Amino acid sequence: IINPTDTLTLSNIRVAPDGFERPVVAVNGAHINPLIRATKGDNFNLNVVNNLDDPTMLRSTSVHWHGLLQKGSTHADGAEAVSQCPISPGHSFRYQFGTGDHAGTFWYHSHFGTQYCDGLRGPLVVYDPNDPHKDLYEVDDENTVITLADWYHTQAPSVPAPATPDSTLINGKGRSVNGPKDIALSIVNVEPGKKYRFRLASLSCDPNYRFSIDGHTLKVIEADGQSVKPIDVTQITIFTGQRYSFVLEANQPVANYWIRALPNIGKNGLANTFADGVNSAILRYKDAPEANPASSQQSPHTTLLEQDLRPFNEAPAPGVAGRGNADVNLQFNFAFRGGKFFVNDTSFEPPEVPVLLQILSGKNPADLLPAGSIYSLPRGKVVEVTLPGLATAGPHPFHMHGHAFSVIRSAGSTVDNYDNPPVRDVVNIGGANDKVTIRFTTDNPGPWFFHCHIEFHLAQGLAIVFAEDVDGISLANPIPNRQEWEDLCEIYRDLPA
Ligand code: C2O
Repeated sequence: IINPTDTLTLSNIRVAPDGFERPVVAVNGAHINPLIRATKGDNFNLNVVNNLDDPTMLRSTSVHWHGLLQKGSTHADGAEAVSQCPISPGHSFRYQFGTGDHAGTFWYHSHFGTQYCDGLRGPLVVYDPNDPHKDLYEVDDENTVITLADWYHTQAPSVPAPATPDSTLINGKGRSVNGPKDIALSIVNVEPGKKYRFRLASLSCDPNYRFSIDGHTLKVIEADGQSVKPIDVTQITIFTGQRYSFVLEANQPVANYWIRALPNIGKNGLANTFADGVNSAILRYKDAPEANPASSQQSPHTTLLEQDLRPFNEAPAPGVAGRGNADVNLQFNFAFRGGKFFVNDTSFEPPEVPVLLQILSGKNPADLLPAGSIYSLPRGKVVEVTLPGLATAGPHPFHMHGHAFSVIRSAGSTVDNYDNPPVRDVVNIGGANDKVTIRFTTDNPGPWFFHCHIEFHLAQGLAIVFAEDVDGISLANPIPNRQEWEDLCEIYRDLPA
């Protein structure tokens, strides 16, 4: 477990989480990346030390704290090309920011190229001693986080697009379809009669997962760092970057039960098998034998629908209800051609100078680079964005930095909800017939990435930047270690190719 003022030391090690050995990025020496554990209101002062030295992978880095809003600390957002220059190998950078009054389940990951697919990813939980759902579970173990990750036998820079994972890692362990079957699976231990809050986080680079635990109901109480009214389901579809908390009651006979996470894509039939413990982990009751489960899947499943999520406080969407009634109304068009994705006819190309540094250097908002990918937004306004579905290589989960947004219409739904819509930071935009719409208020000056969280699609340009209150950014975001932050660019520029 890592605390908010500890050090993250990055290095390259060789591991074989599914039986196939390859080099990976390790955090503090471990491939199963450690949990960063904070309490609401904590101030982070995390030193990231870059000791990466394997030439077959990216060696520079940058770490993003996914879902934390970075109010007043846009420089610590970790988005390379937007909020900072990369941390060159042999160098370090101190991320200083507060969590404000935000608590919940988050994660951290490299935001440099496709580096997180090589292992720089882990869960980050901000605990709230006054959580509104405390009455629903006993706190004997709130440390259980279940992470889902896609795993490749090839380093990310050479994963061919479209990427197809070799295996699914649940808490860092898994089996591939044609790989060894004696690889230990992750075990989640419970005691009969107890209630647990489990936190589920998708650290995936590409696939979404259908997640379930045989024989058990999942009472969903949080989505993407937002408390929600409890909903009972037996299956959750979780897209890359999304998180959920659910309460699980250990109310079944003492035994072992399969934990399942079925990806939508994968090699050698990975996307449709649970044979031999593939796509699986084990829920083990105390005193159950150390054996594989004999359990089978619930059928039919009740699957969580995003449009059924209600914020715990039942808050309405910001602004005047009704499509097009926000202060700023944007409609994006997506396209795919020649191996690149386009948003309103522009494919995102990372600028040489990070957007934030351009802004602080006094550049005119109209001249910010990359041209055609920057959307300037005024402060204190309600913004509505309509995101038509994109069938090519979909479904596409879109993530916004610096904000959680209200989902007025979810993929798969035909109804708008301005009264009590779910709030989250990654939304699936769905397919050809969908018209996903979101709203947020510009209360956080900064340049904020808005992109498809399928890493290979971000690399293919499926991204834009919202430049929010350009004139107010400098005043709203004092950078405590400004020199260190600017030096990252100097050092990176001088790096031998
Ligand atoms: Cu989780 Cu821009 O990322």
